[in-house]
Amino acid sequence: MLIYQNLTQHIQDYFKTLKRTNSFYQRIFNGTLTAAELACFLQNVSFLTAHTPEHLTLAATTARAQGHEPLAHYFEEKFREEVGHDQWGIEDVAALRKRFPITQDQIGIVSEMQVLVASNEAMILRDPFQYFIYILYAEYFTVLAGPTCVRAIENNSKIPPGMMTIISKHAELDQHHIAEWAKDAEEVGLNSAHCAAYRKVLDGIMDRYSLFCEALTRPHEKAA
Ligand SMILES: [Fe+2]
Ligand SMILES: [Fe+2]
Repeated sequence: MLIYQNLTQHIQDYFKTLKRTNSFYQRIFNGTLTAAELACFLQNVSFLTAHTPEHLTLAATTARAQGHEPLAHYFEEKFREEVGHDQWGIEDVAALRKRFPITQDQIGIVSEMQVLVASNEAMILRDPFQYFIYILYAEYFTVLAGPTCVRAIENNSKIPPGMMTIISKHAELDQHHIAEWAKDAEEVGLNSAHCAAYRKVLDGIMDRYSLFCEALTRPHEKAA
């Protein structure tokens, strides 16, 4: 429980900073976010989500090869829950493109997202426990930030919540997943003496996520 509290507090602090300093999140809350920027975000998040099943498989194989059987088992169980979730984002982007004028070149995969995906893979191969920390970040952050962002985008940018279902469906589903994380952390063998190192892992993940979000508003800033 100590690890869970420590790390989730860190994620909460990060979200506060993100709202204050990250241009993408600033635009969500000040009403300047465009449908094209949202579509690009959702397209990139779908790309990330589409990698989850293969990353979980790699994580299970790596954990087993390193002799961490409970961790390998966790990833295998998780795999069953996470297949096909990228489809929600693909449908969201299609709905947005029907309603708003959004061109294909506005919704490309940004290099910062490629880096995030490649880093996840490198993390797994280096130390699969780090990917266990990543899962807490991805799910906790979505539950924490998702609903408030969807509401802000609906109110400020007049975009229907039915076009952001990859966020809202995950925010709902992942509530249950994070509720189990503290127990899972004990079962897979996380050690509260290593909390500082786990926070460092989170820092790396959150830095890459911040850079990805900043990249989404770059074309707009250039045009301004
Ligand atoms: Fe998912
Ligand atoms: Fe999940």
